Amino acid sequence: MKIYIFLTQITLVYSQWFVGEEKQQTTTSNHTEDASKPFPVVSPVECILECQKVLTYGYFVDTTKTCFCMKNKDQKIFSIEDENLNGTFYQQDQQGGVCPDIQRKSCRKVKEDCPTSPSGFYHIEIDGQIVKAFCDLEVEGGGWLGIANITFNNASLMQTYLGYVNNEAPVSDLQNIGDGKFMLDAQVVKRLFTEHGYTEVRGKCFKNWHGRTLHFILFGEETVKYMRKEEMTTHGSCQKARYLSDDTSYMARTDCSTIRIGYGLSHPYHYHLLWKAVTYQVMLDNRFACDDSHFSNAFTNTGYWLFFVR
Ligand SMILES: *[C@@H]1O[C@H](CO)[C@@H](O)[C@H](O)[C@H]1NC(C)=O
Ligand SMILES: *[C@@H]1O[C@H](CO)[C@@H](O)[C@H](O)[C@H]1NC(C)=O
Ligand SMILES: *[C@@H]1O[C@H](CO)[C@@H](O)[C@H](O)[C@H]1NC(C)=O
Ligand SMILES: *[C@@H]1O[C@H](CO)[C@@H](O)[C@H](O)[C@H]1NC(C)=O
Repeated sequence: MKIYIFLTQITLVYSQWFVGEEKQQTTTSNHTEDASKPFPVVSPVECILECQKVLTYGYFVDTTKTCFCMKNKDQKIFSIEDENLNGTFYQQDQQGGVCPDIQRKSCRKVKEDCPTSPSGFYHIEIDGQIVKAFCDLEVEGGGWLGIANITFNNASLMQTYLGYVNNEAPVSDLQNIGDGKFMLDAQVVKRLFTEHGYTEVRGKCFKNWHGRTLHFILFGEETVKYMRKEEMTTHGSCQKARYLSDDTSYMARTDCSTIRIGYGLSHPYHYHLLWKAVTYQVMLDNRFACDDSHFSNAFTNTGYWLFFVR
């Protein structure tokens, strides 16, 4: 009885996430081809669950009670008879519910596949590796990959936090971004812009002492060049930066031609980078600035910094 109830619940949950599409799948008996191999299951739910483990879609053939895990709809399936099989291809429901965690190319793809899904951790491919990464699927159209989270709330830990900032964290550590002690390796970030089609940076920071939030997006050709390290510093942020609705910063109210993106050659990280002379800065290196500078009255370091790319 218990088992029955358990299965019913799973069926319910999965039927909310998945839609089935009847499909005649092309088969091949060619052992050398990259075709999906069958295995026996009792139900479509079991098929979906098994295929979730290897981050693929399920194809269930009812007549033979077999399941195939499929990377995509067009993948061939293996059958000795080599005659096309009639089954049901299960894919996630585009209309809503939690997005099944299937390996995807980017957070942008997660957003495309599951437009109403909440932000969270998804398996995506970053710089050639499959990792669990944080996708913000809500702010400004969603599809943002979290690359840094420095949540610095204890001023006496300055040296420790400088360590996190200067530590070039590898892609494989992205799943720890929620600890607030993470900055992704600048070389990886560079490659996202040179090789993987990323074009925008979003930064959000907050400082305890002044209580203001700075929330900006850098975009356009010059931003891309900057992130690729083809052009080190661009003067003036007009047509290159915009501010979001929750921004309460002075920087947003400052003449954009006086704000530059990037501030010098010595900096190892190239994605925290708004700068207005000595007064307003965003930086995370030997000090922590957010819409202020260490010359400001009452300056303290504590606050938080989040960076995303898309
Ligand atoms: C089997 O698949 C391989 C790789 O796709 C291909 O080169 C070969 O021609 C196929 N053989 C047959 C008999 O279809
Ligand atoms: C699959 O379905 C088609 C159309 O309904 C039918 O003609 C065909 O015989 C079926 N194939 C198998 C292997 O059941
Ligand atoms: C801040 O860090 C210091 C040094 O590790 C520690 O002694 C102190 O308890 C921490 N304060 C808070 C509020 O966590
Ligand atoms: C950033 O880190 C803080 C502190 O651990 C955490 O509360 C927050 O959820 C994290 N945010 C993101 C976007 O990772």
